[in-house]
Amino acid sequence: MSEVYGLVLSVIVSLIVLKLCHWIYKWRNPKCKGKLPPGSMGFPVIGETFEFMRPFDFSLVISPYLEKRISRYGSKVFRTSLFGAKVIISTDPDVNMEMAKASSQLGATDSLRRIFGENNVFFKNKDLHKYVRNLTIRFVGPESLKTRLIHDIDTLLRNHIENGALSGSFDVREAAIKAVGELIAKKVMGETESEAVKDLGLCWSAFRANWFNFSYNIPGTTARRKATTLLKALIQKKQASKEVLGEFLDVIFDEMEKDGTALDIDRAVNLIFTFSLLSQETTPGILGAILKLVADRPSVMQELQREHEVIIRNRADKEAGLTWEEYKSMTFTHMVIKETLRFISTQPTVHRIPGQDLQIGGYTVPAGWLFFGIPQVHFDEEKYGDPLTFNPWRWQGKDIYGTVSRDYMPFGAGATHCVGSEFAKLTIAIVLHHLSRYRWTLDPKTRVLRKYSLIFPAGCKVHISKDLTDDH
Ligand code: HEM
Repeated sequence: MSEVYGLVLSVIVSLIVLKLCHWIYKWRNPKCKGKLPPGSMGFPVIGETFEFMRPFDFSLVISPYLEKRISRYGSKVFRTSLFGAKVIISTDPDVNMEMAKASSQLGATDSLRRIFGENNVFFKNKDLHKYVRNLTIRFVGPESLKTRLIHDIDTLLRNHIENGALSGSFDVREAAIKAVGELIAKKVMGETESEAVKDLGLCWSAFRANWFNFSYNIPGTTARRKATTLLKALIQKKQASKEVLGEFLDVIFDEMEKDGTALDIDRAVNLIFTFSLLSQETTPGILGAILKLVADRPSVMQELQREHEVIIRNRADKEAGLTWEEYKSMTFTHMVIKETLRFISTQPTVHRIPGQDLQIGGYTVPAGWLFFGIPQVHFDEEKYGDPLTFNPWRWQGKDIYGTVSRDYMPFGAGATHCVGSEFAKLTIAIVLHHLSRYRWTLDPKTRVLRKYSLIFPAGCKVHISKDLTDDH
């Protein structure tokens, strides 16, 4: 009897092993109707995630992960697996641009989708995507920035920076995160709802703790549920009470009253949530990187200070806020921002997930695979002489305001080009404007690492030694 059991058991084990081998074989050799780029799918499920996500110094122009693969495969386009998804990575500018134009579906891994919500309005169908894009542009597009937001951002950032400076040293990145969080909470809840604004602020900070871990098991999903539940309750309360609304909610309620609108309360909450998350996670990080680059280069710091000193000197009322004309006149500041975005864009900026097989650059990008386009062209010797040097002056006499071209893609391209790019640039310029009022240094412990997003293991603290406006 025991022999029969032994036989049955060994048959079962053999079948399991066979199935496992077959599964591993299929994992390693994914099916495709066309020609896949070279590459390796790594270990089953894990793929090459850990190597891809290993932190590296932000001043490296190419991640060690990427460098190794490009030289191993001799190709700027290769296949891999990350976060359980099949991925094609490209550093070829033509492939990236072609892909950005050919597909309009923003690509994200399942883990990232979970963070932003399974039904995220930006990941849904084409029509809804276009609709929420246009709505977001009404919040933070150039017109809104110019007529209203510049004043609000300026006031909030100025307060945070002045208060920080009074204590001699403060974390600029944290100050920017707080200011942007407050701005959004006020734009959503209205100026008067201070308790709600505070609650929402607490929610964002709870959520922000490590949300971008980008791993398989993300603690951020519970925090997201908490934040969106609170947001929904606050919006519903507002809707019922007919109180004065923040201008973002004004626009949203106005839309929700229209016949056949694509917007309902859950989508509105999701939109606000996504917007808040992106604004607090992207811009302050880039700002921190700028401060590091500027602090390490006295000539850049000096020129920035000179530019902002002139703006303040020419202002009739020294206490008046920043104007749009002053913002547009910050030529060197725009050069610094443009150069920083060139210099630090070492991670994917074109994210797609095509609905059908696409033939691009001699390879097939199969339907359902993720496509990550990395703008390695930012370090092309022919396009940018001496590309490894951070040099804002390289933009002198060039298009300093443009945010997308074949050779410059920090904000992506095509149908999903970043809707917050102008808002981000304005926020950064305003911080630089107010900070330039002081003689400042960056804490020597400050380190900037890349782990997909930018991370600051020792914070991003500035020390203030002098208020330069005291000299006038
Ligand atoms: C310097 C800061 C920022 C950088 C470097 C950045 C970068 C990007 C990139 C690379 C994309 C993907 C484009 C693609 O795959 O084609 C993107 C999309 C997006 N960004 Fe930003 N972003 C920044 C700031 C912001 C801010 C402040 C907001 C919110 C106001 C924002 C909202 C969005 C949204 C909603 C999308 C998706 C657009 C769509 O699907 O149509 N971003 N951003």
